[in-house]
Amino acid sequence: MDNHFFDQVIDRKHSNSVKWDGTKRVFGVEDVLPMWVADMDFKAPPQVLKAIQTRVEHGIFGYSEPPLSTKKAIQKWMNNRHHWNIRDSWITYSSGIVPALATAIEAYTKPGDKVMMQTPVYPPFFDLVIKNDRIPVYHSFDLDDGKFEINFDKLEQLIDKQTKLFFLCNPHNPGGKVWTKGELTKLGEICSLHNITIISDEIHSDIILAGTHIPIASIDDKFAQQTITCIAPSKTFNLAGLQTAAIITPNTKLRLAFQKVQQRQGFYTVNALGMVAMEAAYQYGEVWLKSLIAYLQENIMIVDRYLKQHLPSLKMIKPDASYLIWIDCRSLHMTDEQLKRELLDEGKLALEPGSKFGIAGNGFVRMNIGCPKQTLYDGLDRLKKALG
Ligand SMILES: Cc1ncc(COP(=O)(O)O)c(C=O)c1O
Repeated sequence: MDNHFFDQVIDRKHSNSVKWDGTKRVFGVEDVLPMWVADMDFKAPPQVLKAIQTRVEHGIFGYSEPPLSTKKAIQKWMNNRHHWNIRDSWITYSSGIVPALATAIEAYTKPGDKVMMQTPVYPPFFDLVIKNDRIPVYHSFDLDDGKFEINFDKLEQLIDKQTKLFFLCNPHNPGGKVWTKGELTKLGEICSLHNITIISDEIHSDIILAGTHIPIASIDDKFAQQTITCIAPSKTFNLAGLQTAAIITPNTKLRLAFQKVQQRQGFYTVNALGMVAMEAAYQYGEVWLKSLIAYLQENIMIVDRYLKQHLPSLKMIKPDASYLIWIDCRSLHMTDEQLKRELLDEGKLALEPGSKFGIAGNGFVRMNIGCPKQTLYDGLDRLKKALG
């Protein structure tokens, strides 16, 4: 796969895209360049499209169930890419990771229990906890020389007997932090000591730009027994609309509790096209992914250079994973509302306001650079117009 594939600018308007067609609903305006919600403006890998097309040509979309070959493809992917040998019996499907987080809340906590997370963080982490009448406990990262750091003593002090779950974002969104083995081990030990179940959301784990992703459950058996690992091909291969995820749970008791809630909710299987896409992506997607990662690395370099040259007061937190750039705008001394207005009114640019990720995100914006370079340069020029 050469750059030409990723350079293609494809019109996504009028395709029911949240990112492109949803700006009126979310930002109140239509004529803006959307670089917010986390999907990419690239086509899925050709092998995945082929598998979906073959399935579509069959023409019958009755009730479907994922074949064993899908589980085999997931196992192979996890083993090759993340050196974690999983059993097929550990896999439960879900129609997404957000639904899986909600299922986990119901399965492992009761109203009034606490769920810990590190902020700034992907908003559904706390939204779901609050909407389910549980209490979010926020531990914010320290930002040290452009890197997210964790103060484990402070984190542990926030834990009490009501803390039942830890929502780990591994790698972290926003910021693209790839956790080190040392950090994950410390966190796993703390959770183990306080009898806290870990929900490890590893949706961003395949797009690693620097460092190595480690599934926390793969570090040792003790962690495996206390962790539910959520993976999906949705970010990696741009398949989010097909809503198919896999939840890996080595601990039988935890797995059955999760499945019991799914059954209570009437969830039995995944979408027929989603399962085909997932299997093809894990089976054949590796070469495409390598090219995607190289392209995203170039995009990040472009942003880095552009900001240094044209917007030196903005500081980018260089992501080690994924395609979402967290930008520190605090030196502009603008409120989040002012930032948003300048971006929309002056720049005609829709970015995620940092405040959406919790108060630790105030003064930041998140820019999605999973797009062709032409779109990226357009977005950067708009950013300069708004904040330069
Ligand atoms: C950390 C994280 N988890 C989950 C999701 C969404 O997962 P899904 O579409 O499978 O519900 C996202 C999407 O941006 C995300 O960043």
